[in-house]
Amino acid sequence: MDRYAVIGNPISHSKSPQIHAQFAAQTGQAMSYEALLAPLDDFAGSLREFFVGGLGVNVTVPFKEQAWALVDERTPAAERAGAVNTIKRLADGRLLGDNTDGKGLVRDIQINHGLALKGLRILLVGAGGAARGVIQPILDAAPEQLCVVNRTVAKAEQLAALFVDQGPISAAGFDWIEEPVDLIINATSASLAGELPAISPKLIQPGHTVCYDMMYAKEPTTFNRWAAEHGAARCIDGLGMLVEQAAEAFQLWRGVRPDTGPVLAALR
Ligand SMILES: NC(=O)c1ccc[n+]([C@@H]2O[C@H](COP(=O)([O-])OP(=O)(O)OC[C@H]3O[C@@H](n4cnc5c(N)ncnc54)[C@H](OP(=O)(O)O)[C@@H]3O)[C@@H](O)[C@H]2O)c1
Repeated sequence: MDRYAVIGNPISHSKSPQIHAQFAAQTGQAMSYEALLAPLDDFAGSLREFFVGGLGVNVTVPFKEQAWALVDERTPAAERAGAVNTIKRLADGRLLGDNTDGKGLVRDIQINHGLALKGLRILLVGAGGAARGVIQPILDAAPEQLCVVNRTVAKAEQLAALFVDQGPISAAGFDWIEEPVDLIINATSASLAGELPAISPKLIQPGHTVCYDMMYAKEPTTFNRWAAEHGAARCIDGLGMLVEQAAEAFQLWRGVRPDTGPVLAALR
């Protein structure tokens, strides 16, 4: 049986085994997919051990940057993102690293939710690993403007500078802008702690602005509740992004694209 896994710490909460089992059943692929807990101080050892016979892994918190450093080759998306969430063992045994988070986010917004990013004014809140991974695919979709805002402004500025040759990107602090935008993407981990990034509600044009929280939960996230209170036209959570990034990984490994619709519906 071809072996795949998701590696992280913690890992027991991961929905990836469930998602990939459904993809495999749907596409008739004979493969196993397990969740592996790597020790915080020995991700490299866990990876080595897995790839003795394994064919591919997804990498999650907090190992995506380490994975970037450990692979032998990177896709252009992974190279710029500085983080790897998908690894494939190539025929010659070398490891190829990709980052499918951004493609997953853009696909979820544009296809599942029918919102074309072309020409939109977009605010990306946060400048951590998740924000970094989605910038290139967002710029590829030709927005009018992508502004990165972060609590620590210097990190937003560094991030925008990295992509300045790729499209209309700028950086700002939370309280620097109050003009409404078309789309706000929350890429902070604030919702995890039930907190809100301190951005102005004036950024939301009631009935027009769409809000997207990369986090997902059974109940609406703190950010999406805040967005709804201020009249956001739609509040979307990150479950679709999770399923779409998984589908991108599955395609890289197996050469076949699963249908994400039924899997997302089953998870909901
Ligand atoms: N749906 C998916 O498939 C998917 C994929 C990847 C990530 N995610 C989610 O994306 C989120 C971010 O992940 P990450 O890997 O980028 O984390 P990270 O690298 O630790 O970055 C955290 C970011 O959140 C900001 N932040 C944290 N607490 C805050 C607060 N109370 N107020 C304002 N800003 C705050 C940090 O700002 P400072 O720089 O100022 O500290 C930083 O920009 C997580 O919730 C994760 O679950 C979802």
